[in-house]
Amino acid sequence: MAALWQRPERLLGAAGLCRTARALSGKSEYDLLVIGGGSGGLACAKEAAQFGRKVAVLDYVEPSPQGTKWGLGGTCVNVGCIPKKLMHQAALLGSALKDAQHYGWNISQPVQHTWSVMAQAVQNYVKSLNWGHRVQLQDKKVKYFNIKGSFSDPHTIRGLTKAGKETFITAEKIVIATGGRPKYPMHIAGALEYGITSDDLFWLKESPGKTLVVGASYVSLECAGFLTGIGLDTTVMMRSIPLRGFDQQMSSLVTEHMESYGTKFLKKCIPTKVEKLESNKLQVTWQNTDLGTEETDSFDTVMWAVGRVPDTKTLNLETVGVKTNSETGKIVVDASEATSVPHIYAVGDITEGRPELTPTAIAAGKLLARRLFGQSSELMDYDNVPTTVFTPLEYGCVGLSEEEAVQCYGSDNIEVYHAYYKPLEFTVAERDATQCYMKMVCLREREQRILGLHFIGPNAGEVIQGFALGIKCGATYPQLMKTIGIHPTCAEEITKLHITKRSGLDATVTGC
Ligand SMILES: Cc1cc2nc3c(=O)[nH]c(=O)nc-3n(C[C@H](O)[C@H](O)[C@H](O)COP(=O)(O)OP(=O)(O)OC[C@H]3O[C@@H](n4cnc5c(N)ncnc54)[C@H](O)[C@@H]3O)c2cc1C
Ligand SMILES: NC(=O)c1ccc[n+]([C@@H]2O[C@H](COP(=O)([O-])OP(=O)(O)OC[C@H]3O[C@@H](n4cnc5c(N)ncnc54)[C@H](OP(=O)(O)O)[C@@H]3O)[C@@H](O)[C@H]2O)c1
Repeated sequence: MAALWQRPERLLGAAGLCRTARALSGKSEYDLLVIGGGSGGLACAKEAAQFGRKVAVLDYVEPSPQGTKWGLGGTCVNVGCIPKKLMHQAALLGSALKDAQHYGWNISQPVQHTWSVMAQAVQNYVKSLNWGHRVQLQDKKVKYFNIKGSFSDPHTIRGLTKAGKETFITAEKIVIATGGRPKYPMHIAGALEYGITSDDLFWLKESPGKTLVVGASYVSLECAGFLTGIGLDTTVMMRSIPLRGFDQQMSSLVTEHMESYGTKFLKKCIPTKVEKLESNKLQVTWQNTDLGTEETDSFDTVMWAVGRVPDTKTLNLETVGVKTNSETGKIVVDASEATSVPHIYAVGDITEGRPELTPTAIAAGKLLARRLFGQSSELMDYDNVPTTVFTPLEYGCVGLSEEEAVQCYGSDNIEVYHAYYKPLEFTVAERDATQCYMKMVCLREREQRILGLHFIGPNAGEVIQGFALGIKCGATYPQLMKTIGIHPTCAEEITKLHITKRSGLDATVTGC
C-alpha cells in the first residue's frame, strides 16, 4: 500500500492514476470537456466558460489522405464555409468583370485568374481565424489541448499528441463535437491514391487545372461552380439527381444555370476507376447508366464530393456505451443532445438526424452549455433552418420543399406562388435570367401559413436570411403581401408574388 502512495504511476499508469484521483476526491479536473474544436464544440466550450465553469476543449486534425492539415476551428473555418465562400466570391468577381464592360469599364483583355494568389490570400485569412479562435479560448479561460481524444472510461479522455504522447483528462460532463470528414469511394480503384476531396482543394498551392468533381450535392456543386467561375475546365459527374433533399424544381434550375455558365455535366454516370497516365493526367473510367456504355476522359484533378462520414470509430464509444446509428456511424442523441450515457452529450455534424450546418452546430452547442450550467431548459429548435447553396447563381431556401409540402398536406391543400424575374443588374449587363426564379409554398386554408420559401438569384443567402425570421414566426401569405418591398431589389419580388402554379398563368415578372 505504501508503495502505491509513493510511486502510484508505476503501478497504475497515467489513466489509472487519473481515475484513482477522481475516485478518491469524487472530483474531475474539469466541469466540461469538449472533444472537437469546430463550430459546435467551440461555441459550447466558450458558453460554458461564461458560467464560470472549468472548461477544456480538445482539437486535433488528422491529416487528409493527401497530407493536408490545418489549424483550430473545424471544418467551417478551414475546409468548409469560409474558404468556399471566399472562392465563390473570386468567381463572382470574374462575372462582375464581364458585366463591368457593359457599364463602361475598360478592362484590358485577356482577363486571367491566378489560383496561387487567391489561394494564398484565402489561406492567410483562414490562418488569422485559427489564431483568433486560440485567443478567444484564452480570453474566456478555456483550456485548449491540441490532442486527439478517445474515451478511456466514462469520465476520462485519453489524449494523444502528434508525437504520440499520452495524456489523461477527467471531466464531469463531456461533449462530443468531432464533426465529419469527406468520404472516399474505396471500392473505386485509384480513388484514394489519385483523388482529392474538399479537405485538400482549398489548400492547393497550384491550380487544380481540368477538374472532375464526383457527386451532385452542396459540396460538389459549390466547388464545381467556383472552379468554372475562375476559368477552369470543370465537369460534374452525377449518378442520380442534383441536391437530393432540396426542392427538385429549384435544384434543376441550379444545374441548368451551371451548364449555361460553362460547367459540364456527366449525368447518370458512375465512376469505376482512376488511373495515372504517363503524362501525369488522371484517366477516369465510368459507366454511363443511361446508354449502358463505358466512357473515359482524362483530368488534372479528380475531386470526390460523395458525402461525409463521422469518425466515431476512433472515439472508443463502445467502451462507455455511447450508442451510434449502425448505418451512418453518427451518435444518437435526444432533443436535449444527450447520448445514451447520462453525462455525455453530442452536437453538430457528428449527431444523427441533424442538419450539417455551422449555425445549427453553434446554436446547439450554446444552448446545451446554458442547459448544463445556466439553469436554462431551452432546447434547440431544428425547424425552419434556412440554408443557401453557393452555386454561381445562388439558391436559398427555408422550410418545406414543394415535394415535402405535398407529401405532408396533399396537393389540394397547398398553394404555390411563383415568379420568374430579372434582377435589375442583369439588364444592362445583358445577362441571361432564365433561371432567376422564386416560389413560396403556402397552406391553402384561409390563414395561408407559409410552409416554404425558395429563391434562386444573386445574394440568395442575404435574401432568405431576412425572410427566415418571418417564417419562423409563422408568417402567412396575407402578411407577406402587406410587407412593403424595397425597390429596386430582387427580394422585393417575394413581396409581390401573386401568380399561383395552379392557375397555369405566365409567371414572368414584367415591368417595375
Ligand atoms: C466544403 C464545405 C462547405 C460548407 N459550407 C457550409 C456553408 O456554407 N454553410 C454552412 O452552414 N455549413 C457549411 N458546411 C458545413 C459546416 O462546415 C459543418 O456543418 C460544421 O463545420 C460542423 O461543425 P461541427 O462542430 O459539428 O464539426 P467540425 O467543424 O467538423 O469540427 C470538428 C472538429 O473536431 C476535430 N476532431 C475530430 N475528431 C477528434 C478527436 N478525436 N479529438 C480531437 N479533435 C477531434 C476535427 O479535426 C475538427 O476540428 C460546409 C462543409 C463543407 C465540407
Ligand atoms: N452551403 C452550405 O450550407 C453547405 C455547403 C456544403 C456542405 N454543406 C453540408 O455538408 C453536408 C454534406 O454535403 P455533401 O455534398 O458532402 O454530401 P451529401 O449531401 O451526402 O451528397 C453526396 C453526393 O454524392 C453522391 N454520391 C454518393 N456516393 C457516390 C458514389 N459512390 N459515386 C458517385 N456519387 C456518389 C450523392 O448522390 P445520390 O444523391 O445519388 O446519393 C450526392 O449527390 C450537407 O448535408 C450540408 O449540410 C453545407
